[in-house]
Amino acid sequence: MEGHLGVVSGTGVAMIMISRLMNGDIGGHVRRAMQHFPFQDAVRRVLDTYYVARPNSAKPHYKRPSMWTLKPSRALNELTVIANFTEVFLAKEGHKNPVGINLLEKIQLPTMASLYGAMLAGVNIVIMGAGIPVQVPGICEKLVDHQEVSYRLDVQGADRNDDYRIHFNPKEVFPGVAEKVGPLTRPRFLPIVSSVVLAKALLKRATGRIDGFIIEAPTAGGHNAPPRGKVQRNETGEPVYGDKDRIDLNEIKSLGLPFWLAGGYDSPEKLKEALDAGAAGIQVGTAFAYCSESGMDETLKEKVVQGVLDGKVTVRTDPLVSPTGFPFKVVQLEGTLSDPAVYQQRPRLCDIGMLRQLYKQENGTIGFRCAAEPEDDYIAKGGKAEDTIGKNCLCNSLSACAGFPQKRKDGYVEPPVITAGNALVDIPKFIKPGAKSYSAKDVHDYLRG
Ligand SMILES: Cc1cc2nc3c(=O)[nH]c(=O)nc-3n(C[C@H](O)[C@H](O)[C@H](O)COP(=O)(O)O)c2cc1C
Repeated sequence: MEGHLGVVSGTGVAMIMISRLMNGDIGGHVRRAMQHFPFQDAVRRVLDTYYVARPNSAKPHYKRPSMWTLKPSRALNELTVIANFTEVFLAKEGHKNPVGINLLEKIQLPTMASLYGAMLAGVNIVIMGAGIPVQVPGICEKLVDHQEVSYRLDVQGADRNDDYRIHFNPKEVFPGVAEKVGPLTRPRFLPIVSSVVLAKALLKRATGRIDGFIIEAPTAGGHNAPPRGKVQRNETGEPVYGDKDRIDLNEIKSLGLPFWLAGGYDSPEKLKEALDAGAAGIQVGTAFAYCSESGMDETLKEKVVQGVLDGKVTVRTDPLVSPTGFPFKVVQLEGTLSDPAVYQQRPRLCDIGMLRQLYKQENGTIGFRCAAEPEDDYIAKGGKAEDTIGKNCLCNSLSACAGFPQKRKDGYVEPPVITAGNALVDIPKFIKPGAKSYSAKDVHDYLRG
């Protein structure tokens, strides 16, 4: 609404949407958006399964959808399409500016249904990090005409010649869709990269057009690219980034596509620096994650903001915590999973499974394992014991951070993990004297200053 690009996080958005429905759809926003979805019979099935008009607990036991496999049920495809449609629809309401969606390449199974749902809502830009998304632009181009698409999957232990794929056919999931909605608009595609080599590889191997790049530094919130070369750790165990990780912006510029800089660019000085280096602009996450409009659990958000104001909160680049194997930024806050006691007490459980890795079993079929699942299960599936050390279930703990902590049948409530970039410690600059919070507009006004 302020005239810039707002980006919806599409990662796990079906989980978020059904959790909102199970919490009674406060404000009616989800159901309002769903009314615009072209297939109301599918919407009815989602509502019948998940909507609870009057929840009787603030921390309910949430129903989980089935986990993703190579042959997802029609219900799971419908749900994923509708969830991505819904969130993009809501982000586009009330203004005419473009809206983007952000997906992670590491999470491959829901990608095609997510893209399609976002495109049905008219998403303008797709941003994708955590991997090498060469297949995505071609898929978006085919989805414009509702064509069947497939995604070649990363499978541990697979041979070069193996070709494991998941298929998605919009006309099978929503019969008559092409006639009913007509051709869709192809969104622009901006991969997130942290090296020139990766940007060049994408340009060479992508199945369709790349429209620009987001260049992300390792100071950014969420997952970070691992350091290049031999990984060194500092005295607190954080990965050390060095000269090899610095991106030559002149080389990026010479690729001839627009680019945006991310990772601690939340100031007018850094914005100017980016523009002077030839960037089209900046991408900011941390500053918005802690503003009043952010969907983060209010109590957690207030605690973090107060902690920052008191100078007590720090951010750590944790090399182990994420089952993806990528470093992940963790806000150090008592009572959350950054607290060793909370981490030790959590009985391991994998009941969402978004970050499970695919591996080739002896009989050639695909198995699924996650380094954060119960250790014995992981090892029984051929996983290495050492890979389970320090791993945390990001599926459950990020759902808790978003305000939807699962209450297990035995009463245990999933604790949150909180992420932010190194720029978290600077958020007091957005807060007016005497105030305890700030708005997204405060951030915009500051950046434009
Ligand atoms: C709470 C939070 C969640 C994020 N989640 C994702 C994500 O799911 N996918 C992604 O590509 N980037 C994610 N990011 C990174 C942002 O897209 C953005 O590039 C980054 O935050 C910019 O750097 P900054 O945090 O210093 O502003 C996340 C960042 C934050 C703060």
